[in-house]
Amino acid sequence: SMPGPTEPTTPLTMSKLSPIEQSKRLAAYIAVDKHIFPEHKIIGIGSGSTVPYVVERIVQQGKELNKDRVFIPTGFQSKELIISSNLNLGDVDQFPTIDVTIDGADEVDLELNCIKGGGACHLREKVLAEAAKTFILVADYRKNVEYLGTAFTPGVPIEVVPFAYAKVLQNLHHVLGSRTAALRMAKAKAGPVVSDNGNFIIDAPFSREEMMNPYSVMARIKMLTGVVEVGLFCHMAQAAYFGNQDGSVTVK
Ligand code: 5RP
Repeated sequence: SMPGPTEPTTPLTMSKLSPIEQSKRLAAYIAVDKHIFPEHKIIGIGSGSTVPYVVERIVQQGKELNKDRVFIPTGFQSKELIISSNLNLGDVDQFPTIDVTIDGADEVDLELNCIKGGGACHLREKVLAEAAKTFILVADYRKNVEYLGTAFTPGVPIEVVPFAYAKVLQNLHHVLGSRTAALRMAKAKAGPVVSDNGNFIIDAPFSREEMMNPYSVMARIKMLTGVVEVGLFCHMAQAAYFGNQDGSVTVK
């Protein structure tokens, strides 16, 4: 028989997924069950490796519900995911008010501030987070931190207009004190990573002290001419779900 809306297709404990993937899926499933209701018609879909499990769970809610919904992507990857899942695709210019957006994160602190942009999608992600009445984060336990900048991220992701990148880097090094800020390079250093918007990405590390006030770091970076968007999301999320190794979920 078809699975009910709260019943996973594969029992979580019998899955062949790796422990990290299982924890991502657990967080995604719980977030969908708690936040995506039948009355939600406009849904924002984030980017990264956790979000496919969000879409998997939404698909499990059934064709009947999903035929009246529109899904808004945060980039090329989530657009393809929406299309391949046979869900209706829309864009934020048609639907500037979104019921719920669910997205991944690179790090989330105690106050639900987060670093995003590990996948270079943070401009569109931030637009969809702002457009959403409810913005929810899903991640595995490695992303659950006390202060930002403590996990394995190479710094704050900053999307910049290509022709201004060297000037912005200089400002980061000498004005904002992020001395090792660097242009993000594609694998094998073939060239700079290019975002879905045709821009470059800089990763700029800041000290623990500075990262305790992420809003101030974000504001100072945003003031630099040539910066398009900063991958610091301050007080935007209503909740964050982290899958743990033992099969439990931490809610922040
Ligand atoms: C992309 C992002 C992603 O949401 C973030 O990198 C998390 O990805 P994952 O779920 O693969 O850990 O911000 O710009």
